[in-house]
Amino acid sequence: MTIKIKYTMFNPANEIQDLQFFGEFGGVNPSVSDSSTYTFLSAKTMFDTFEGNTDGCYLYSRHSSPSNLYLAEALAKMEGTEAAHVCSSGMGAITGTLMHLCKSGDHIVSSRTIYGGTYAFLKNFITGFGVSVDFVDSTKIQSIKNAIRPDTKVIYLETVSNPLLEVSDIEEVSKLAKQHGILLVVDNTFSPLSISPAMLGADIVIHSLTKYINGSSDTVGGVICGSSDFINDIKNVNNGACMLLGATMDSLRASSILKNLRTLPIRMQKHSENALKLAELLEADGIKTVYPGLASHPSHELFKKMYRKEIGFSGMLTIDAGLLEKANALMEMMQENNVGYLAVSLGFYKTLFSAPGTSTSSEIPLEEQKEMGLTDGLIRFSIGLDHDIERTYNIIKECMKKTGVLS
Ligand SMILES: Cc1ncc(COP(=O)(O)O)c(C=O)c1O
Repeated sequence: MTIKIKYTMFNPANEIQDLQFFGEFGGVNPSVSDSSTYTFLSAKTMFDTFEGNTDGCYLYSRHSSPSNLYLAEALAKMEGTEAAHVCSSGMGAITGTLMHLCKSGDHIVSSRTIYGGTYAFLKNFITGFGVSVDFVDSTKIQSIKNAIRPDTKVIYLETVSNPLLEVSDIEEVSKLAKQHGILLVVDNTFSPLSISPAMLGADIVIHSLTKYINGSSDTVGGVICGSSDFINDIKNVNNGACMLLGATMDSLRASSILKNLRTLPIRMQKHSENALKLAELLEADGIKTVYPGLASHPSHELFKKMYRKEIGFSGMLTIDAGLLEKANALMEMMQENNVGYLAVSLGFYKTLFSAPGTSTSSEIPLEEQKEMGLTDGLIRFSIGLDHDIERTYNIIKECMKKTGVLS
């Protein structure tokens, strides 16, 4: 079956709707496993479980717990992968994956526009373990090609990049990766349900669950979606990075995230609808607006090639306020006027805004920020679930006029 047919037939929102987990007493929610350790009726079964040979037996909650497995199964279904493993944060998922895949002497080709924490990990941390990293413009397949070396193990990118909203052609990059026997790892945090990287050829898909998937800004969490072999490997008691580094999700959190996941399709639709409307209005006012749903976005057509129309272009947009001082004044005024919160992160019911250069991307040196087009006055918006987005737009416009962002 071609990728295109497979992609069209797969619908992650239906996968979420069709999940059927029963509680211990027939509850409509699965029971929460409130235990860190598990008993065995025989010592032999305990030994076999340590060896990884007994399905359905639980050992210790850093390895797996029933609640974490429910959430992992749901997320694997959502991404169309065989299996998944949930972690205590998005960074836990990213660092666990990369530390597991890459050892001293290996090389990573990474997109240069990625979340600041991931950038710092790749630039300052994993290099300390003898892994080398090259950052490239992942929107240009030739740049990735040029960076590949015989020791390249991983190509790493974000479907829609944080904060510049650059879009990579997952299918093309995956073909290139496969030609060279390299694994493609994709962070899909900005475009859940809209784009399904694994169905386009990515080997491993990561999310910060902190964002859209949980959607209530009350916890951090992460997930790694991939083949059953890979997921079993990262949990291996002898050499699995997730088991040994220990960024394990708590069962109570896994259970609350699973409940929030059920409303993700409808939330994503509203985030996308509001963001598109706002982006169109701001652009028409002459504000430099970046949103993949705008025809002016350099990857608008590419996004359309990969996305699910009914979910849309997601809820992230950026504007350029010109100067950092103006950006700061505008954000403070928008918060005072209840447009949303001056806060990092995304996927909340309220709009969140921040200036990435001085916050989420501050780990990236100023010179490199400039090179990649991350300007001082850039404001990143995570558009909320506002019932009346035109009302919100009118308040934003008023704030823009008062702060001189709009004349
Ligand atoms: C695209 C992306 N990936 C990963 C992360 C890290 O996730 P967490 O904060 O849950 O560790 C973030 C956090 O902002 C992000 O924006």
